[in-house]
Amino acid sequence: MGSAITGWGEALPERIVTNDEFAARLDTSDEWIVARTGIHERRMGSTTSKLAVEAGSAALDRAGLVGADVDLVILATTTPDQAIPATSAAVHDALGCRGGAFDLNAACAGFVYALVTADALLRAGHRRALVIGSETLSRVTDQDDRSTAVLFGDGAAAIVVEAGATDDLILAYDLGVDGSATSLLYAEHGGHIHMEGREVFRRAVRTEITSIERVLADAGIGPDDVDLFVPHQANVRIIEAVNERLGLSMDKTAIVLDRTGNTSAASIPLALAEAADAGRLNDGDTVLLSGFGAGMTWASAVVRWGRRGLAR
Ligand code: UT7
Repeated sequence: MGSAITGWGEALPERIVTNDEFAARLDTSDEWIVARTGIHERRMGSTTSKLAVEAGSAALDRAGLVGADVDLVILATTTPDQAIPATSAAVHDALGCRGGAFDLNAACAGFVYALVTADALLRAGHRRALVIGSETLSRVTDQDDRSTAVLFGDGAAAIVVEAGATDDLILAYDLGVDGSATSLLYAEHGGHIHMEGREVFRRAVRTEITSIERVLADAGIGPDDVDLFVPHQANVRIIEAVNERLGLSMDKTAIVLDRTGNTSAASIPLALAEAADAGRLNDGDTVLLSGFGAGMTWASAVVRWGRRGLAR
């Protein structure tokens, strides 16, 4: 028995922070930020658990379910509310879910790691999983450092994954990490994000290309068979470079970073949820997901959209 995505939802803090707001107090400009990253604005505020609950609740509504129907919560985040306990415990309680819950930290690849994990646990006997990416990166970003402050934002998105579909949700996946490169992107406990932007950029492009080539080959499809590409939303120039090299069209690529900035584990589900809300996804569509981030982690997956024989 396979699984299917039956619900999705998102949550963004109300406060919009424009590029001009940074330009008013830092040595930067709207022109530089837009030209170098594609980001026009980002959201800031709230907490990782509150955003996760809001996104999770919207995903349950969309699936026509309540929390008690879910027996597994996986929260992908690099910015938990506390060191102990896992933020997913509060989310599990607030939504009234059953079964287990845990946080998963694979940075910007976290949502795809969580989706692959959920699919595996549904095969092992769980019935319904809530998979959430939620981040409050503004809390761990030095708002006076122009090289990182303008990049990151807060937000969350969630999907419901249910067991019982007639065929597989995940056609192919690739999870990886290069722990020798941790120093390129990190934050100490209680500290701020440090990033060697140029080198991370280079590795992001190189690694995503290799990882995507691998999953397309494993799924037995080519770039033209992809109906929607949902990349990690760090920098539109990374996405353009990957697409150009692989022959993936920007028209078939989901982009939210212009309005959200980089929301790490929340960025792929935010782009996916927005595309689904906009009616860009149809039953049977082939969706490509790919993320790269601190660790340095990466994760790609080819996913089949739609209920695919799910009885409920
Ligand atoms: O989500 C995890 C993965 N993260 C990423 O994928 C991020 C990857 N990196 C990037 O997106 C880009 O490297 C950045 C957006 C961070 C930087 O863009 P870049 O084109 O690589 O610029 P750069 O780092 O090569 O810097 C060019 C110049 C530097 O000045 P000098 O040394 O040439 O005088 C920077 O100091 O731009 C300067 N700079 C800025 N100028 C105006 C850096 N940040 C800013 C800023 N405003 N906000």
